[in-house]
Amino acid sequence: MDRERKIATYERVQQEIEATLEGETDLLAAMATVVCLLHHAFDTYFWTGFYRRVGPERLLIGPYQGTLGCLHITFDRGVCGACARDRQTVIVPDVHQFPGHIACDPNSKSEIVVPVFDRAGQLIAVFDVDSDQYNSFDEVDQRYLEQIMALLTRFDPAPIIWTPTAH
Ligand code: SME
Repeated sequence: MDRERKIATYERVQQEIEATLEGETDLLAAMATVVCLLHHAFDTYFWTGFYRRVGPERLLIGPYQGTLGCLHITFDRGVCGACARDRQTVIVPDVHQFPGHIACDPNSKSEIVVPVFDRAGQLIAVFDVDSDQYNSFDEVDQRYLEQIMALLTRFDPAPIIWTPTAH
């Protein structure tokens, strides 16, 4: 997909997400909505989903679409772990070159993982997109996915994730 079309698609999907989530207060419903609308907007989105933070350094599968994803990821493993640890978006053009990449599906070739924060700045999840083509993700994906994940900061994460204050 060329750059202009990618930008136009993200603009449209972001508007759809904002409109669909207007008045919604449930984080799980919001995550499922984000996954669905993004997954079906791009051919390159082969696996699309959230890993929720369920412990100080533990992630557990959340809403997703695509082939079977692994259930548990610790912060010391994979691209998702690196994103959670560093609290920064990670773009991997070729997963075979990323030490420790977790190959849930052998067809996965490139990926982007974006951190998700609550309004207190706590990491509550990561958003993982895998592509079955190399070099699928760039700074356009990063910009829009970070904007879309910022829409989730207004939700109360307590019912579905771990928070330091709740334990
Ligand atoms: N690619 C991830 C693992 C999760 S899946 O691909 C669904 C990683 O290495 O963190």
